[in-house]
Amino acid sequence: MEEEREQKQKGRICVSGGTGYLGSWTVKRMATLSTPPSGWIQIFDADLDRPDSFAPAIGGCVGVFHVAHPLDFDEKEAEEVKVKRTTSGTLGILQACLDSTTVRRVVYTSTVSTILLNDKAVGSDSTVDEDSWTDVDFVRRLESFRGAYVVTKTLTERIAMEFEFEN
Ligand SMILES: NC(=O)c1ccc[n+]([C@@H]2O[C@H](COP(=O)([O-])OP(=O)(O)OC[C@H]3O[C@@H](n4cnc5c(N)ncnc54)[C@H](OP(=O)(O)O)[C@@H]3O)[C@@H](O)[C@H]2O)c1
Repeated sequence: MEEEREQKQKGRICVSGGTGYLGSWTVKRMATLSTPPSGWIQIFDADLDRPDSFAPAIGGCVGVFHVAHPLDFDEKEAEEVKVKRTTSGTLGILQACLDSTTVRRVVYTSTVSTILLNDKAVGSDSTVDEDSWTDVDFVRRLESFRGAYVVTKTLTERIAMEFEFEN
């Protein structure tokens, strides 16, 4: 019974953004959880601008950590370009998970800024939770540092959750 449970839990995991700070730590941490066989890691070329490009990496996996996200704090690109990239790239990843029929769980890295920034939460000491979504128009009006990052993270997470409910 225990052996069967262990077998079920084993399987390949895909990490998007494996070159980044959190992604590389995720990969390293997984390597220390068990003794990995040789050739345990495979590197795939994938880009959020090409939503279909993640499918080969995801096929056959049991889990996906979707960590990749552009952190363009210098605002070199327009907000709408980044929103399109992160939303369509994330939907491509989620669709590949669904199509794989093997993926059982997807972990998406959120950020506190997707729930903190709205005219009710700012300056108040009330509790915020998953229902206290950041208001992207409020953020745009603030014209604050990292505003486009907050907008991309909020809209991407919302679209990912819609996909989850629909599927
Ligand atoms: N670090 C934190 O304190 C923190 C806090 C809250 C939430 N998060 C979230 O955690 C995630 C990772 O953050 P991080 O700090 O590890 O960032 P990071 O070091 O900048 O890593 C970002 C990763 O995303 C990849 N990426 C960027 N644009 C891409 C694209 N168009 N297509 C495919 N991959 C792309 C990067 O690949 P390249 O190197 O090839 O560009 C890199 O591997 C993000 O979703 C972020 O919002 C981080």
